[in-house]
Amino acid sequence: MDQQLEQLRTEALAAIAGAADETAVEQARIKYLGQSGALTAVSKGMKDVSKEDKPRIGKLLNDVRTAVTSALDERKAALLADADAAAFAGVDVTLPGTAPRLGSLHPITQLQDRAIQIFRRMGFALADGPDIEDEWHCFDALNTPADHPARNEQDTFYLPDGRLLRTHTSTIQVRTMESSAPPIRIIAPGAAYRRDEVDATHLAQFNQMEGLYVAEGVSVGDLKGTLEFFFRELFGKDAQFRFRPHFFPFTEPSFEVDIKATALGAADKWLEIAGCGMVDPAVFESINAKRGDTAYDPEKYTGFAFGFGLDRLAMIMSGTPDIRYFTQNDQRFLAQF
Ligand code: DAH
Repeated sequence: MDQQLEQLRTEALAAIAGAADETAVEQARIKYLGQSGALTAVSKGMKDVSKEDKPRIGKLLNDVRTAVTSALDERKAALLADADAAAFAGVDVTLPGTAPRLGSLHPITQLQDRAIQIFRRMGFALADGPDIEDEWHCFDALNTPADHPARNEQDTFYLPDGRLLRTHTSTIQVRTMESSAPPIRIIAPGAAYRRDEVDATHLAQFNQMEGLYVAEGVSVGDLKGTLEFFFRELFGKDAQFRFRPHFFPFTEPSFEVDIKATALGAADKWLEIAGCGMVDPAVFESINAKRGDTAYDPEKYTGFAFGFGLDRLAMIMSGTPDIRYFTQNDQRFLAQF
């Protein structure tokens, strides 16, 4: 029996070493260790082995089984390693890979963040308000009477209950003054909505940034200095501006701010970039009426306000010819920012 076992061991180890693939290894396993395999057959003969031989033969049987089992495992592992090596053959792992492209913030978000940073340096705090507004916050409080063309239903999105999507972020001035007494100094970025025909320069939803500063003794000079500082930070120290008289119902006097396009390397013409003015005392009066106090006493306080379109600014700054690029999510456009 000893001889039989030794022979089996030699034969099995040779067969396993010669197994060329996983199937061959499995066949060898079945042949020697399977239910009707050669080793199983030998172990069935154990019952006929004499008492004195039993321990020795038993140990030998175990040794052979262990040797065959580990030879099978080793062969399998070796075959797997060979397959891996073959798969990697010809692959140069030291070559530079294809780096995944990192995403970036949307150009409007980038501009908004930059604008917030600049105003924060001048002590402006961030304020917020709802996109769905009532007419009072969007118009009445801002000295825009019911017969004003801005309130035309062709110009604004109205909800069935009479509320509307705010047409400008100036609603946030109103809400801030309603809840806080002067002095206040806020900026308020946010979405604004208008029933405009969508084209290269108009979207029905766009982004604005509003500003408001109310305190004692605030003057047109403060307004001018603040906006000039802001736009010079954005466009460069040598950018040229002009404040052109204009009309807004909620400011008096009112201005539009133009920048000389040459600051952007473009033709020699003026581009309108913001609206602004000194808060109309009529606005303070409606706030006081709503608050039920005289916190915004027009005899004591003055203030300036401004608003500009972030989309428009981003277009001007980046030379983007069509505002719709900002909402189309085309990687070829966005990847440039
Ligand atoms: N609300 C104006 C608009 O949407 C922009 C604006 C102009 C805001 C003058 C102001 C301002 O606060 O004082 O066109």
